[in-house]
Amino acid sequence: MEFNKAQNIIGLRVLSDNVIWVWEKDKSVVVIDPSVHEPVIRYIDENNLHLEAILQTHHHSDHIGGTKYLIERWPNVKVIASSKEKTRIPFQNVSVEDGETLNILGEEVKIIEVLGHTSSHIAFFLNGKIPVLFIGDTLFSGGCGRIFEGTYKQMYSSLKKIKSLPKNTLIYCAHEYTKANLLWALTLKPKDQDIKTKLLQVEKKLSINELTIPFLLDEEIKINLFLRAKNLKEFTFLRENKDSWV
Ligand SMILES: [Fe+2]
Repeated sequence: MEFNKAQNIIGLRVLSDNVIWVWEKDKSVVVIDPSVHEPVIRYIDENNLHLEAILQTHHHSDHIGGTKYLIERWPNVKVIASSKEKTRIPFQNVSVEDGETLNILGEEVKIIEVLGHTSSHIAFFLNGKIPVLFIGDTLFSGGCGRIFEGTYKQMYSSLKKIKSLPKNTLIYCAHEYTKANLLWALTLKPKDQDIKTKLLQVEKKLSINELTIPFLLDEEIKINLFLRAKNLKEFTFLRENKDSWV
């Protein structure tokens, strides 16, 4: 387990490459996609905090696996998830839809539906002084989520939604995949200086046990081939190429 403190959002690295984000304010915390519960409970207890809400981007077990145990410990916790996932995220008690805004820890949080990885994936956008996006498995640094349930078109339009957010948005995804994604990108664009520079920065961070997340939208647009794709055809080629890359 590792910590990476950026502002008041802390990353707990768990399993092989998952990151659980813990957003902290005035002794209350909100947890995003708790794949497991023990590190979350330990962190909350050690810091004398209270669990206010759990945000679920989608139903995969490495995102909701810890939720039922957190509910046992904090029975009044709000569990916020897509209204389309009442069966696969059955413990949700605040069901949300695309475009809805909620007040969480005193901040306005907008729900943005980003389909493609699953048929109901949502993201949570905080439009504060430094905008923050909890994006789950839709976008990774240097990559994007696999298309399991949605279509290429849906994922391509989800990425366009992300690109339309303020350029200073800090993006928090749920997996530390950055290095592998950049190595893949260099197989297609071996001379790309922006990607090469990013890889060096990422290797440096990893060598001192730091997370490479969050990442800045403005910088990501320069190094992420999926965000750079000019049309659906190019995006589809990239996604298929990445799926077959080992
Ligand atoms: Fe997933």
